[in-house]
Amino acid sequence: MTLAKQDERAAGSEEGILRSSGDKALLIDGKKASEVVLAEVTIDAASLIAQGIKPGLAVILVGENPASQVYVKSKSKAAQACGFHSVQYDLSATTSEADLLALVDQLNGDPAIHGILVQLPLPAAINATRVLERVSPLKDVDGFHPFNAGLLSIGDLERALVPCTPAGSMVLLDKAMAALGTDLAGAETVVVGRSNIVGKPMAQLLLSRNATVTIAHSRTRNLPETVGRADVVVAAVGRPEMIRGDWIKPGAVVIDVGINRVPGEGLNAQGQPKTRLVGDVAFAEALSRAAAITPVPGGVGPMTIAMLMANTLRAAKLSRS
Ligand code: GUN
Repeated sequence: MTLAKQDERAAGSEEGILRSSGDKALLIDGKKASEVVLAEVTIDAASLIAQGIKPGLAVILVGENPASQVYVKSKSKAAQACGFHSVQYDLSATTSEADLLALVDQLNGDPAIHGILVQLPLPAAINATRVLERVSPLKDVDGFHPFNAGLLSIGDLERALVPCTPAGSMVLLDKAMAALGTDLAGAETVVVGRSNIVGKPMAQLLLSRNATVTIAHSRTRNLPETVGRADVVVAAVGRPEMIRGDWIKPGAVVIDVGINRVPGEGLNAQGQPKTRLVGDVAFAEALSRAAAITPVPGGVGPMTIAMLMANTLRAAKLSRS
């Protein structure tokens, strides 16, 4: 490694976000990176509050999905920790679509609220598309409204509110590329997964940075070969350890968006079978081939909430103009 390369590597890891795995790959610590983002958001929010604008986030949960309950609680808590006005609506699973739309309308008109998040999935009786489209695009901190998806697709990142998981993935990718002394411009990138929430916006973000972008998915003919061409792999398929280590091109950067719960070994304190979280990439295999990789848990996951806070702050700032 040249001296310049070593300097860049050191510069990229100065916040402690990149660390050795003991194998070839550097670990990209999403928990650390999220703490850096949250600290910046908290400082910025304080100066906005001093100007008379307190960022406000409303989170709506319909029903009692246990995973959603955990996510929503974390989002509300993070908003409080950033000094925001934070409100949470816990609605019963039998809430009508009309009542949910009425709440969204009320929050759209509430000047103390700058961000509205309707936790997904919604109960089957509610048309999720209709609800997400009812959220004012200016308060759409999830970035799920077609207006924001449109802004992202035409590359208007000044105005777009970008979905939190791909936005957080880009922050981690940038840290890794800086540490490795490489650049996204012209890089071969492969996004595995074509969801509206992660795959498609991730591809748009990569394109906006001049990467060459392939979107692969469940119908892609030769997935190992496609993944094997990539300098950057973003895995967002939601299938545990589907992407094997020997598919990865040596020296590639791997961003694993998957969070899959699988059976573990033995029983927990309550006598229930243990479970563990794994990504969409076979992590242990990939460590000896990738140059840098996000772990699961502790990679992209923590960044999603941090970027939600960053989006809420942005929405609050934009509300001034
Ligand atoms: N459910 C799982 N992830 C998300 C997310 O990022 N936003 C919302 N609104 N619901 C989700």
